[in-house]
Amino acid sequence: MLFMCGIIGYVGPRDAREVIIAGLRRLEYRGYDSAGIAVVADGRLSVAKKAGKLANLEAELATIDFPVAHQGIGHTRWATHGGPTDENAHPHVSADGRVAVVHNGIIENFSDLRAELSNAGVEFKSETDTEVAAHLLAAELLGADTLMDAMRAVVKRLDGAFTLVAVDIAGSGEVVAARRNSPLVVGVGEGENFVASDVLAFIEHTRDVVELGQDQIVRITADEIEVIGFDGQPAETTRYHVDWDTSAAEKSGFDWFMRKEIFEQPRAVADTLLGRFNTKGELVLDEMRGISPEDLRRINKIVIVACGTAYYAGMVAKYAIEHWTRVACEVEVASEFRYRDPIIDPQTLVVTISQSGETADTLMAIRHARVQGAKVIAICNTNGATIPRESDAVIYTHAGPEIGVASTKGFLTQLVACYLLGLYLAQVRGMKYADEIRIITDELERTPAMVQQMLDGAERIYALAHSLAEAGDFIFLGRHVGYPVALEGALKLKEIAYQHAEGFAAGELKHGAIAIIEPDMPVFVVVPPEGRDQLRDKVLSNIKEVKARGAYTIVLAEERDKQISEDADVIIRLPHLSTLLQPLVATVPLQLFACELATVLGHDVDQPRNLAKSVTVE
Ligand code: G6P
Repeated sequence: MLFMCGIIGYVGPRDAREVIIAGLRRLEYRGYDSAGIAVVADGRLSVAKKAGKLANLEAELATIDFPVAHQGIGHTRWATHGGPTDENAHPHVSADGRVAVVHNGIIENFSDLRAELSNAGVEFKSETDTEVAAHLLAAELLGADTLMDAMRAVVKRLDGAFTLVAVDIAGSGEVVAARRNSPLVVGVGEGENFVASDVLAFIEHTRDVVELGQDQIVRITADEIEVIGFDGQPAETTRYHVDWDTSAAEKSGFDWFMRKEIFEQPRAVADTLLGRFNTKGELVLDEMRGISPEDLRRINKIVIVACGTAYYAGMVAKYAIEHWTRVACEVEVASEFRYRDPIIDPQTLVVTISQSGETADTLMAIRHARVQGAKVIAICNTNGATIPRESDAVIYTHAGPEIGVASTKGFLTQLVACYLLGLYLAQVRGMKYADEIRIITDELERTPAMVQQMLDGAERIYALAHSLAEAGDFIFLGRHVGYPVALEGALKLKEIAYQHAEGFAAGELKHGAIAIIEPDMPVFVVVPPEGRDQLRDKVLSNIKEVKARGAYTIVLAEERDKQISEDADVIIRLPHLSTLLQPLVATVPLQLFACELATVLGHDVDQPRNLAKSVTVE
């Protein structure tokens, strides 16, 4: 049984149930197949868990007598194997009823452990791998002095990725958690402490955070935080202050987080550009310290690995990096990268893009790359996440927390970070003079206002979504950087509106896929800016080709582009930008379109079926 989930633990004076349910609400974007809570009060363990969204658990809690407690744990689950049933929901309780455990990750050797425990007479109530941890913990507690000692003994027996959080009826006001390969942070309050998958879970109570390292165990009480390694030695931790507040985790009047995040993009883009120049006007990427300019001059190949939307940002980056640096750049989905024995050596620079910084496929890809001696730069939105921790250098995007499962501001800020990286490489390798870099960065600095301009036109896009609510199939076309924009436009529709949508390289359409064009089928086409006339002319021909087959053409073209009118049923105007930067504005109407269409169709935009925000299993 594999999971990737949201977890929280609390010890303090408040009603643990309220803190945990509020925390799970903020973590629900990580998974929403089932939810559960366990608290310890007066030496008794009380557990409630329910399949379905958190609301089901809340409804259950409203009907039962659940105690006020000051220590507890909670979980929201995304199942990959096995049904999201009440029994499989976490927490899982040991057979003796002494401990309850929640888990994020995979215990790879759980079948062996389950067989061993079954042989010893333990009866399992669920099909989960997690339940073995509960039983093992109870067994170890018989011989251990503390829950922390027992946890240390248990983790030694487990293979795989896991964050485990446990409460014990005998423990005196404590929660113990262990971390290997799955995220875990500690929230440091006054007279109360928290552990969780991410800071969102406790951001309304504290913004002071201790980041746990790999293979560490933490014990929190109301006043203490103790961290040891799996080897039992006291461990070093990093403490930091989160610089955003609860408003970042509220919908602030929007119907969906996703819509709010789309509208936050001008600020997110501006924040990601902020403070990137020194007084001499040179581009500086402070977080690049782990990789010297010398290292960057030595590389002869760049490989970008990422998943989903981040992969499409990587596709845009390839065009920009190759154009600006003339270094060969490949881009690959992380899940394919590792298994094809890629040619990587110390002269390869691996760039990884991940909003969450926890995507397992991406993490495994960079581990593989580092073993081959490559340097790794992470582009990431989450401070202290596993991927940036395991990279040589990191460029943080400053989008603020992204909660809608479908990535929007994550994507735009990833593009910005990719452009900055490309320019930085060009600067370091002497491929561009400072004034050339300045021209491009000046243009980048004008993009937040342009993104705003696209948002100001939202009502027209919404009207288009309403008019196409019944369409069912959608095609997106683009060339050059317009191609990844087309793929991203299609992905958004699939993710949240559950529509059949496909993105194609516009020139490739005629090699097969054009056969699927039916009369009135909506076809979105991204037209390159004027000035790239060869490219543009080809796209204009592609519009004609689909129009001739009866398609309903929705054309994204620059304001000054007067040539397209005759073949466009709808024109979405874009402000002028150079070709490479155009995705920053062209993507926005496609995001708005998907968000509105999903809303019209009555879908849960923030929590689309079958998906999770951060996929922490391979
Ligand atoms: C999941 C999400 C996607 C996201 C992808 C990569 O599949 O549903 O929206 O693009 O993961 O996530 P990352 O956090 O690595 O950018």
